[in-house]
Amino acid sequence: MSHILLITSSPRGDGSLSARFGTQIAEGVQARLGGTLTVRDLAANPVPHITPAYIHGRVTAPDARTPEQSDAVNFAQSLVEELKAADVIVLSSGMINFGLPSPLKAWFDHVTWPGVTFSYDGNGPKGLLTGKKVYLVTASGGVFAEGPYAPFDFQTNYLLHLLGFIGLTDVELVRVEGTVLGPDAEKAAVAGAEAAVQALLTKAA
Ligand SMILES: Cc1cc2nc3c(=O)[nH]c(=O)nc-3n(C[C@H](O)[C@H](O)[C@H](O)COP(=O)(O)O)c2cc1C
Repeated sequence: MSHILLITSSPRGDGSLSARFGTQIAEGVQARLGGTLTVRDLAANPVPHITPAYIHGRVTAPDARTPEQSDAVNFAQSLVEELKAADVIVLSSGMINFGLPSPLKAWFDHVTWPGVTFSYDGNGPKGLLTGKKVYLVTASGGVFAEGPYAPFDFQTNYLLHLLGFIGLTDVELVRVEGTVLGPDAEKAAVAGAEAAVQALLTKAA
């Protein structure tokens, strides 16, 4: 039995391709492995930006925190607990201005927490959320996996780095790319993602 956490973040609602394929993966993994599924829709319910209350609160002893600091730290802790509880994490992101949607960045700002999800020792940073499987779905209007725009991929590469930094290194990536490059390119991108998702689900069985 697995616990699956699906995180969606696109502001494009029902038109979101990253949410569509992320949901397909999460529901497909659940159908194959059984278990429970939690959905965190960061577009519908955005987490706030991090605040001084959070930054100061997390380096203040619990009994010395102001009420505002306690609320901020407890909220971040609840996001971390949700993440820790998952065996499988499905993260979906659609490119906005060459990067990730801002609510997803705000979520990472809460859960990337020294001493909690990563630590430093003599060998440098060490991710603490180990032993989890991650499926990452990234969508973009242009093509970034290769070609002239590859140097401007501040979405997929950044997400892979952030995930790895907190210990989430076992990542299967599905890209849905080139969807604004005409109807044929969009069709090919969607068909490619559909095939990639089916291949991953077969592996997950
Ligand atoms: C506000 C906005 C900004 C976007 N910026 C970019 C961009 O910088 N580069 C790009 O290739 N596509 C960009 N796109 C296109 C989206 O990345 C594309 O529609 C993708 O499928 C979005 O993910 P989703 O389908 O999960 O919503 C943008 C779309 C929107 C709505």
